[in-house]
Amino acid sequence: MRKRKFRDIELSQLGFGLMRLPVLDGDESKIDVHEADRMLHEAFDAGVNYFDTAWPYHSGRSENFAGEFLKKSGLRDRLYLATKLPCWLCESYEDFDRYLSMQLERLGTDHIDFYLLHAMDGQRLTKMIELGFGRFLDEAKRDGRIRYAGFSFHDDYSAFEDVLHSYDFDFCQIQFNYMDEEFQAGLRGLKKAAKMGLGVMIMEPLKGGQLAKKPEGDLKELWDSFDTDETPAELGLRWVLDHPEVTVTLSGMSSPEQISENLRTAQSAGPGELTDRERGMIEELRKFYSERTAVPCTGCKYCIDCPRGIPIASIFKYWNEARRYGTVDSARKRYRANIKPENRADQCIECGNCEAHCPQKIPVIEMLKQAHEFLNADS
Ligand SMILES: NC(=O)c1ccc[n+]([C@@H]2O[C@H](COP(=O)([O-])OP(=O)(O)OC[C@H]3O[C@@H](n4cnc5c(N)ncnc54)[C@H](OP(=O)(O)O)[C@@H]3O)[C@@H](O)[C@H]2O)c1
Repeated sequence: MRKRKFRDIELSQLGFGLMRLPVLDGDESKIDVHEADRMLHEAFDAGVNYFDTAWPYHSGRSENFAGEFLKKSGLRDRLYLATKLPCWLCESYEDFDRYLSMQLERLGTDHIDFYLLHAMDGQRLTKMIELGFGRFLDEAKRDGRIRYAGFSFHDDYSAFEDVLHSYDFDFCQIQFNYMDEEFQAGLRGLKKAAKMGLGVMIMEPLKGGQLAKKPEGDLKELWDSFDTDETPAELGLRWVLDHPEVTVTLSGMSSPEQISENLRTAQSAGPGELTDRERGMIEELRKFYSERTAVPCTGCKYCIDCPRGIPIASIFKYWNEARRYGTVDSARKRYRANIKPENRADQCIECGNCEAHCPQKIPVIEMLKQAHEFLNADS
């Protein structure tokens, strides 16, 4: 496995995200321990030394699973363990210590190598500053409970800069793939963080699997025209690994076949090694997906002050993903699960506040009607 340097250590350029492990009976909380153990061993044996979990993954079972794996395998001191503070559950300074203690217990260890403030955004940053997160990270580093402090991030670029400058972080974790070069932190954030000396761990390199699906229909036609043996997953990972600023590319592999394939990719790809032919393929794929965009929303959230609290950018994101990647069922499920009926698109009162602020000049009122019709339909 090719390694990349972070401070005085060498990290495998492919990391294992313990968020999408194989499960039993389709139940997220029932990790298929036998299969998952086998997958972790295969990854470790091939040189993967960075494993990323978090408090909520697998309905709160991922950290326990990791702890049991480390105990059975005796590998604790031979790999780097990353987990994340569930910031949204912290209401006081004492909560920081309380969650970290519980996480150390779940993981059966006395220290966490890479500890992140989980899912930071502009709003959460304000709250975390009020609660005194900097003092907590300083103390936890000083007493050895954590080795490196970082944050994972989901918001726009300006919020990324705010978080980046709010503490002397060692590393960060950002969403990055060939469709998200200009989304959230994006390429600009990757370069900025790397320039400031932070390690940059990548999440969603295959857009949570959307860029890795077996091509069907029109996409199959396009893919066949490439006349290549490469798979969509391989091409997607090779694009991320091509960036020298990336430290670890995390993938949440959910089957032994995916592990084997991604290990092969990470053994054969590296910075500056993407060929012109592959770049051309990526361009075609971007064009293909972009043409299937339902609404040209960039997620800037200038429309955030909706009097009905309609999360316009999130709704457009669900709609766009369904149209681009064919993930219609999952978009409809997320729309219903994540957005309360009183905030759904059909609650729009047509005040036009959003349209006045939209830099893309999107006819938001009309688009919300169409989005609701699509997302609220039965699958
Ligand atoms: N901090 C945060 O806020 C945050 C957010 C997201 C992720 N993460 C972390 O980052 C890690 C990586 O993100 P991710 O899991 O979204 O990564 P990803 O690689 O973009 O998506 C993983 C999914 O891609 C598909 N896949 C992977 N390899 C494949 C292959 N060779 N062939 C076909 N399909 C393949 C699988 O989908 P199927 O299961 O559908 O087959 C897999 O579940 C996570 O596991 C987690 O540890 C953190």
